[in-house]
Amino acid sequence: MSKFPAGFLWGAATAPHQVEGNNLNSDFWQAEAAMPGMERSGDACDSYHRYAEDMRLLADSGCNAYRFGIEWARVEPEPGLVSRAELAHYRRMIDTAIDLGLTPVVTLHHFTNPRWFAAEGGWMGERAVERFLSYAETTATILDGVPWVCTMNEPNMLAIMTMMARLAASGQQWQSPTVDDGARPVLPSPDPAIGRRLVDAHHAVRDLIRERTGAKVGWTVANQALVARPGGEEKLREVRYVREDLYLEGAKGDDFVGVQSYSSMWVGPDGIEPHPVRPDNTLVGTAYRPDSLGLAVRHTWEVTGGTPVLVTENGIATGDDERRIAYTSAALDGLEAAVADGVDVRGYLHWSLLDNYEWGHWAPTFGLIAVDRETFVRTPKPSLAWLGDLARRNGGR
Ligand code: FCB
Repeated sequence: MSKFPAGFLWGAATAPHQVEGNNLNSDFWQAEAAMPGMERSGDACDSYHRYAEDMRLLADSGCNAYRFGIEWARVEPEPGLVSRAELAHYRRMIDTAIDLGLTPVVTLHHFTNPRWFAAEGGWMGERAVERFLSYAETTATILDGVPWVCTMNEPNMLAIMTMMARLAASGQQWQSPTVDDGARPVLPSPDPAIGRRLVDAHHAVRDLIRERTGAKVGWTVANQALVARPGGEEKLREVRYVREDLYLEGAKGDDFVGVQSYSSMWVGPDGIEPHPVRPDNTLVGTAYRPDSLGLAVRHTWEVTGGTPVLVTENGIATGDDERRIAYTSAALDGLEAAVADGVDVRGYLHWSLLDNYEWGHWAPTFGLIAVDRETFVRTPKPSLAWLGDLARRNGGR
């Protein structure tokens, strides 16, 4: 018997920049061109044109929900200049999802900013909150029938990206603390001042979307499932606050909080330990830790004071689809146990629907569906059918 409640959402997630292609007016497109060593997103998966096919594959598998995003850089190509045609495009996406029986979970901001917003100073610019609010006001007009809206994706990661962009703009470079044996670098802790700015932006947009639409509103936080080594307990509290808890506290009073979890990291007395190269690492160099989802969900529940949880991302970068199924199955065990212990979980959205552009790289494949980068032909992997079957049984295994 499944512990997942009736009406549970089962599905997958994508982000505009990673799948649409040719997101020319965004700051990330600009960064790809400027930064050596970054692969280009280019046509990505051409989902800008092929979204209906993507959604049909997901719906046909048996899943009932799709998380996708609206690209600010397309909707507002210049400050105050709204593209009605782009708004109509995203409305068609929402309609397509609904017609296929997929509950749309819509993200308003997933890492990328319009170039003009970045040029104005980005998230620390004087008009940042006002600009985001005005974009949200514009998008609110097409959100009829959308039950779930995520204002921002991983503000804690966005804060790090904002910090690095500011460093780059001032001619400085962030020095990675990693040792040069290929161990995964530990990202710097985000400046809490940026975090507080993002919390303000989130609250302003949350209130507006609530007022203008019938949607439940929240934001999605990257959970690192940090665990203390003996002697690392105090350090854990310190790093977890600036990297995670500040943002989880920002979700108090929201209708839901998105949990995004992939792996776990240890914290010793000196801070987060870089994860070493190991044969069972994922393709992004992280530890194989399917148990991280249970840890992340429980921590989120605790810090947000019992805010309903939607798993908005969980998955693994691997070329071996059996391993994806094994990982996801074990992650769902942890999720089910959390539900059994009373955590209010509303859905599970796998990252990702497609093998897509992983922020500078194409090699880490997270998808339930493979995409030929030249012909754009989609080939579902066994994991898609596996997840769809599970969805049909509401998680009963
Ligand atoms: C998350 C991002 C998502 C994707 C996955 C692998 O941090 O939200 O866009 O890159 O990681």
